[in-house]
Amino acid sequence: MLIDIGTGSGLSIAHSARLNPAQFFIGVDANPRPLEKISERIHRRPEKGGLPNVLFVQAAVEHLPSELDGIACQVHVQFPWGSLLRAVATGEPLPMRNLRRISKSGAALEVVLGLDPVRDRSEIERLNLQALSADYIKSVLAPRYKEAGFEIVDQAALAHAGRGQMNSAWAKRLSFGGNRELFRIRARAL
Ligand SMILES: C[S@@+](CC[C@H](N)C(=O)[O-])C[C@H]1O[C@@H](n2cnc3c(N)ncnc32)[C@H](O)[C@@H]1O
Repeated sequence: MLIDIGTGSGLSIAHSARLNPAQFFIGVDANPRPLEKISERIHRRPEKGGLPNVLFVQAAVEHLPSELDGIACQVHVQFPWGSLLRAVATGEPLPMRNLRRISKSGAALEVVLGLDPVRDRSEIERLNLQALSADYIKSVLAPRYKEAGFEIVDQAALAHAGRGQMNSAWAKRLSFGGNRELFRIRARAL
């Protein structure tokens, strides 16, 4: 079971579900509007584009429903913005504990995030974010993730060239222009 938090339009997770029919996927987003069409489409017959192995849930990371407790082997947060960005970029206790709550022990958490100091300046100021760096992840985020029940096992800066290949609508958009350095954090639920 893979749960994608801040799934956006749901198209990326539907694509994964189509490629991996034996795995179940749940896409979660606080904003229901972009999920309306796809939520309807997945219930069609398979030959009409239906997908029996995916479900979409409207929920904010701050209020994940208890039905998701302890069911995820993988949790993804890709290109978050707003309060979801603040949650994973600062290791905010409540939402991070919620991510742990929906994870099985040993589950893999993958976070991909990036900030452009110029283009994202107002959001950086509004959310009171610090610049991302390998040192920040190691010295500030790792202890906060640990407090929430995740051990960071790997972090990497993602090359600009590979972004178009990522299964994320936003990765493709962000591969054009800007100066956004992307980081991928991998953690394990303790
Ligand atoms: C830039 S989009 C990324 C969409 C998708 N993950 C992708 O990579 O294409 C960020 C998403 O985070 C969602 N989001 C923001 N704050 C959230 C929160 N507190 N809880 C859940 N989703 C949130 C937004 O509604 C938006 O759909």
